[in-house]
Amino acid sequence: MKNKKIILAISASIAAYKAAFLLRLLVKEGAEVKVILTPTAKEFVTPLTLSTLSKNPVFSDFVLNQNGEWTNHVDLGTWADLMVIAPASANTISKMANGICDNLLIATYLSAKCPVMFAPAMDLDMYIHPSTSININKLQTFGNILIDSKEGELASGLYGKGRMAEPEEIFYKIENFFKINQSLLGKNAIVTAGPTFENIDPVRFIGNFSSGKMGFAIAEELASRGANVTLVAGPVDIKNTHKNINRINVRSAEQMFDAVINHFEENDIAVMCAAVADYTPINVAENKIKKQNDDGLIIELKKTKDILKHVGLIKKSYQFVVGFALETNDEEANALKKLKEKNADFIVLNSMQTEGAGFKHDTNKITILKNTGEKLEYNLKPKKEVAFDIVSEIINSLK
Ligand code: C5P
Repeated sequence: MKNKKIILAISASIAAYKAAFLLRLLVKEGAEVKVILTPTAKEFVTPLTLSTLSKNPVFSDFVLNQNGEWTNHVDLGTWADLMVIAPASANTISKMANGICDNLLIATYLSAKCPVMFAPAMDLDMYIHPSTSININKLQTFGNILIDSKEGELASGLYGKGRMAEPEEIFYKIENFFKINQSLLGKNAIVTAGPTFENIDPVRFIGNFSSGKMGFAIAEELASRGANVTLVAGPVDIKNTHKNINRINVRSAEQMFDAVINHFEENDIAVMCAAVADYTPINVAENKIKKQNDDGLIIELKKTKDILKHVGLIKKSYQFVVGFALETNDEEANALKKLKEKNADFIVLNSMQTEGAGFKHDTNKITILKNTGEKLEYNLKPKKEVAFDIVSEIINSLK
């Protein structure tokens, strides 16, 4: 925890008093902590308490002092190694999920380049309201880490889920987060993600349903464990958040191949997660292809270059290569064939047989097949957790 830079952001909830205990634990272990309070949170815990404990000024307003200086939320957001929002009230969670930037906490959250943890605290009915559930899920799809509420007695006197996790538990999660982080420090990783689009004419293309979510989750996980990540992304509508991710946007299989090959040598780890088109039109029509009076249209296709196969061929002994396989039949046999043919270190087999797994879903069910003959099967889980499993297994294999 020593010298780790943490923003502790406190929103208005009775659990705010517990944030003072968390702050004390963090500072005691050597972390440098800057505190942000929402305007109403000041009613629950005083800036004086928090500035004394953190040995830093406490930030709450956009305007810092009477000289008209402003609190630079961008600086705060880029300064931190981790932002912890505890307690995160229903109101703050909703603003985070929707980008409603009417206070310094949200402005900093939107500017943050580091991972974000949030610990909800609210009454039980607020917690189970569909609106809150949707917002919490949405934050998780942004890559924010949920430290879930606990069941117990609530400030209202009612009993149920909504109590903020105890300061010791949040502290333990933060400590663990930084411990896990260390393992890929100094390593470089390259990840492909999303589909490729192969142009037919100026307005049409051949594509596929890959959302890019799995590849992006892997890139975020590698980065949060300390790796410098090059993310070669096909055309997808997702944002990467970690400051250690350098994103290269491409469209076609050929562009993706070039981007990977240009960067491959400097990388220790390559995870080829993209759903690359296997075929591309031989000729791209200069003008929009007009409808003809005959029955059909034949578009001649040629094979694209197999990126994974190529990196498998040229990889050096210090490089670890992971491929993916999405099979509809003879899943395992086909994946094992791929593992061998592409000279990968392991193949992640996505099940098409399981409801909720694969393309477009937020969850996935995988089996890892290693070139050592080992086979690891996992349950259906959110892609973020699947990414955690895959990266953990890469780290185990590197050892
Ligand atoms: O052979 P198949 O396309 O089923 O193999 C899937 C694996 O190969 C994935 O890891 C995918 O990212 C990679 N691949 C590639 N370049 C291609 C085709 C597939 O990197 N042109």
